[in-house]
Amino acid sequence: MEKKIRIAIQKSGRLHDDSMRLLKECGIDAGNSRNQLRVAATNFPAEIFFLRDDDIPEYVQDGVADIGFVGENVVLEKNKKVNTVEKLGFGKCRLSLAIPANKRIRSAEDLAGKKIATSYPHILSGYLKKKKIKADIHTISGSVEIAPRIGLADAICDLVSSGNTLFSNELTELETILQSEAVIISNNDLSPALQKILHKLLFRIQSVKRSRNNKYVLLNAPNEKLDAICGLLPGMRSPTVLPLAEPGWSSVHSVITETDFWNIIEQLKQQGAEGILVIPIEKMIL
Ligand code: PRP
Ligand code: ZN
Repeated sequence: MEKKIRIAIQKSGRLHDDSMRLLKECGIDAGNSRNQLRVAATNFPAEIFFLRDDDIPEYVQDGVADIGFVGENVVLEKNKKVNTVEKLGFGKCRLSLAIPANKRIRSAEDLAGKKIATSYPHILSGYLKKKKIKADIHTISGSVEIAPRIGLADAICDLVSSGNTLFSNELTELETILQSEAVIISNNDLSPALQKILHKLLFRIQSVKRSRNNKYVLLNAPNEKLDAICGLLPGMRSPTVLPLAEPGWSSVHSVITETDFWNIIEQLKQQGAEGILVIPIEKMIL
């Protein structure tokens, strides 16, 4: 039987949808299967396991799953023996200290002797130790944001994504401890057959990630401005230049990155480019 890679994905929560979408964009379809524990992917030698994110590092370490999609925050907190093999660019959030808006606490140092509620005791204790702050860590597994209101803690250390949870609980951020995003972790002793499948998956993921950061640009340029315009557009190798039916004009095609996008578009217009079209790229293979 063909070997399959077992991929652990968050069952429900912030990373579930983006993880499934990424797999789909890599040509790996697991259907609409959130209610199952395990499904076989179509078109790719993989089985998807839906698990609680907090359990994924341990399952990957123990070889129950071969790889997992999980937040860096969970990987660092659980501190299991796994390899982080790829950052995924979604699920961005930060782990922060937060305090009730009315508390007279100005910095992390003011938390000395105070009680901090968190689901991240390992990361938090490392941070406090490094800063030589002696505080009392109170570990709870969920709803950390209500701890100050019910008198359980003076401060919390929790994940912040949009900031809505802090805002609606009248908490303000004091300090960021860690920036996090979704990553792929893998078991430390994957067989050569599984490593081969993992490389195939990573190749596809990198193509999808690259395409998200790039746009395809088409524009019309007066021939006397071609050098200046092509200089602004490096493209994958170099821009494609094709003559237009109208003499003296050319069509230029290229790829630009999202970060340079507006800057380059403005310069292209200044150089006389017209009819600029910008098109999303689905896959980008180098
Ligand atoms: C985190 C955190 C907050 C929320 C913050 O939970 O515990 O409840 O997200 O997000 P916001 O700033 O957008 O309001 P998470 O999604 O990691 O759930 P889990 O801890 O139960 O896995
Ligand atoms: Zn969780």
